[in-house]
Amino acid sequence: MQIVKYQFQQHGDDRGRLVALEEYGDIPFEIKRVYYMYETKEGVRRGFHAHRTLEQILICIHGSCEILMDNGKEKKIVFLEKPYEGLYVGTLMWHEMYNFSSDAVLMVLASETYNEEDYMRNYDEFLKMIKK
Ligand code: TYD
Repeated sequence: MQIVKYQFQQHGDDRGRLVALEEYGDIPFEIKRVYYMYETKEGVRRGFHAHRTLEQILICIHGSCEILMDNGKEKKIVFLEKPYEGLYVGTLMWHEMYNFSSDAVLMVLASETYNEEDYMRNYDEFLKMIKK
């Protein structure tokens, strides 16, 4: 399984650093939605789903967290801790987010607006879909 982790350009000077993300440039899709998780409680694991059509990029803009990526055949763990790194989560990728540091802010850029019908929340159903 290939993990795609983008390294975004950092515009740094003596004032600090800045990252700018543009759709179809730094981000390979039109950004229709942005959401973020913060104040995640210790020990919490979330996600537990895959998407039929949604593409996303996960950026831990503060603190750190881990992402389990599972394409139904292989599993990989990705550590996110840099505000200039983005993990690409494409379609049919089961993912779980965990080990959030208490100060973690995990921001997600998404290619579609929220649609519950795009979610596969049952792991067995996901595996069946992969085999098709
Ligand atoms: P949830 O799907 O449980 O998050 P995850 O599975 O990624 O851990 O989402 C939590 C709540 O937020 C749920 O009530 C749905 C709502 N929500 C939106 O309204 N819009 C969104 O874009 C997202 C991701 C969630």
